[in-house]
Amino acid sequence: MDKRIVVTRTVPESAVELLREVGDVQVCSQDRPLSAPELREAVRGAHAVVTMLHDRVDAELVAAAGDQLQVVANVAVGYDNIDVPAVTDRGVTVTNTPGVLADATADLAFGLLLMVTRRLGEGERLLRAREPWTFHLGFMLGTGLQGKTLGIVGLGGIGQAVARRARAFGMNIAYTGRRRASAEVEAELDARHLPMDELLRTADVVSLHCPLTEQTRHLIDEAALAAMKPTAFLINTSRGPVIDEKALAEALREGEIAGAGLDVFEREPEVEPGLLELDNAVVVPHLGSATVETRTAMAELAARNVAAVLTGDEPITPVR
Ligand code: DGY
Repeated sequence: MDKRIVVTRTVPESAVELLREVGDVQVCSQDRPLSAPELREAVRGAHAVVTMLHDRVDAELVAAAGDQLQVVANVAVGYDNIDVPAVTDRGVTVTNTPGVLADATADLAFGLLLMVTRRLGEGERLLRAREPWTFHLGFMLGTGLQGKTLGIVGLGGIGQAVARRARAFGMNIAYTGRRRASAEVEAELDARHLPMDELLRTADVVSLHCPLTEQTRHLIDEAALAAMKPTAFLINTSRGPVIDEKALAEALREGEIAGAGLDVFEREPEVEPGLLELDNAVVVPHLGSATVETRTAMAELAARNVAAVLTGDEPITPVR
């Protein structure tokens, strides 16, 4: 009997073709995420499940799938939607898609950084509102990046890719994180390791690239925002709950920090209404990896992980 592979949401056809080589594929083609009961129903009898970042995968879901389940392949580098110990304790492999989305996400982080520091969203809104304007030397001034310090929280693959872009813009790099980067990475990026509080106090731009864990939930809270310079900017392309969004809206409103560029939100797809009223907040709908090339590479990597596990090989990018 063919192995049953359930894909919770539409993925590029090239990934479906890879999956068809190793089993019967059912794509739960939906224009919305499956609800928890729908997901439990969909995975029944599956040997492999290809999940998205909004699918909650826990002991209950694994039990609903049944004992034949071998692999859960998340089409994302982040896997905070998966209770990894609960899944792996039942002998099910979990995989994610690191590496292939680092450049696209770094490009987006840098796009947000340029948008918010150079007030591009505000400028665009002005023209679209058909407001009168003329060039003058004090008109819509932003903040230059040359010689400023980018403080990176989490110098993994994406953080490093952001740092490379920042170096090309003449920025200095500081970083913080649980682990110190290798001497080679520090040397290549000329990156200084700082404790979190010093990074917050000294950086001109703070960019978040850490995973969402119990330790990083609300890492950027009222106190962290108060520690930042009033001229500093905050960029988030990691996970929304790393920031206390209400505290951020208040800090932006009160001018405690200069601006924020956000790709991710605490309660996606909702966005804290306070943020939408602020000119110094740039908000986009979780587009970090949203290029044709990157989404294809992510889905194909997930499919290759499934194929490896179902054919008895080692997964390419397991979550341990
Ligand atoms: C990820 O891979 O975790 C991203 O958030 C998806 O773009």
